[in-house]
Amino acid sequence: MQDTSINASFRDDLIEALRRTPKSISPKWFYDERGSDLFEAITALPEYYPTRTEATLLARIAPELAAGIPDGAALVEFGSGASAKTRILLDAAPQLSAYVPMDISVEALDAAARRINADYPALEVWPVAGDFTHPISLPDEVAGRPTVGFFPGSTIGNFGRDGAEVFLRTVRTLLGERASLIIGADIVKDRATLERAYDDAAGVTAAFNLNLLERANREAGADFDLDAFAHRAVWNEALERIEMHLVSLKPQVVRIAGQAFLFGEGETLHTENSHKFTEAGFEALAAAAGWRLGRSWISPAPEFAVFVLNPP
Ligand code: SAH
Ligand code: AVI
Repeated sequence: MQDTSINASFRDDLIEALRRTPKSISPKWFYDERGSDLFEAITALPEYYPTRTEATLLARIAPELAAGIPDGAALVEFGSGASAKTRILLDAAPQLSAYVPMDISVEALDAAARRINADYPALEVWPVAGDFTHPISLPDEVAGRPTVGFFPGSTIGNFGRDGAEVFLRTVRTLLGERASLIIGADIVKDRATLERAYDDAAGVTAAFNLNLLERANREAGADFDLDAFAHRAVWNEALERIEMHLVSLKPQVVRIAGQAFLFGEGETLHTENSHKFTEAGFEALAAAAGWRLGRSWISPAPEFAVFVLNPP
């Protein structure tokens, strides 16, 4: 499926990103069909601990999470991707009546929704394709049902501090006053573990990062020379985030829709922040967005947290 509005805004965003000093773009543009496939490949890498750590933790605490889910509730998942971790909740909480996966990656969303439909015949599945940094609404079909939010993966860490607060506030309004939100957040840890997780030996994360430039060439009429950029992942200790960049290996000019953009040698396009959290820091963020931290669980090292946020 081709969505011309998404293509047009990608090109506009890319042009803005390249005009900025320093150059930076939203990581939401990673997720075309190939980007979503590459992300799934990342989740299976030995170095990328977050997915398996969170899934193991979710499986352990699923009965406790399920006990807080009301009868007939709709589970609303943000950035649902392949909806793999969702199954842990669906298996533990058969009282759920509906599942609303939301994702910007239409192909990944459609494929996941079809698989969940097939495997959970009693569950209604109402996928929503869209960008959750823009205004979003729930499908009419789930109106009036209790809702529970699910935001795993530490995707909350891909926002800046202000963006995360705005997002959590928006989710509270979207889900309704009485809803809770089950959210996964990666925890601050040593530099070596973090940098390995974002710069794996097989080069899958590098391919994921460089796919942004391939996508720009495919969809936005750009002429990036893929051999002239390299993947870089670095832990910014002061800001508690892994930064991913694409580094220009030489002075070069990139053209997009008739406009020229100069890259100096060593200049970077900043493609992603992945913020890591402490429990206290997360509680403060949640409180600033109008949520109260309920229960929290943190896995053994490499530490990853699952929090339940409740109405204040
Ligand atoms: N929840 C899954 C996938 C995480 S990858 C997991 O925990 O493994 C992040 C997901 O968020 C991707 O599927 C991506 O397409 C989606 N995503 C990223 N930015 C988005 C945005 N702005 N709006 C909607 N979905 C977004
Ligand atoms: C989706 N998100 C939480 C991932 C992360 O770890 O920040 C995306 C990712 N980037 C590189 N590897 C995985």
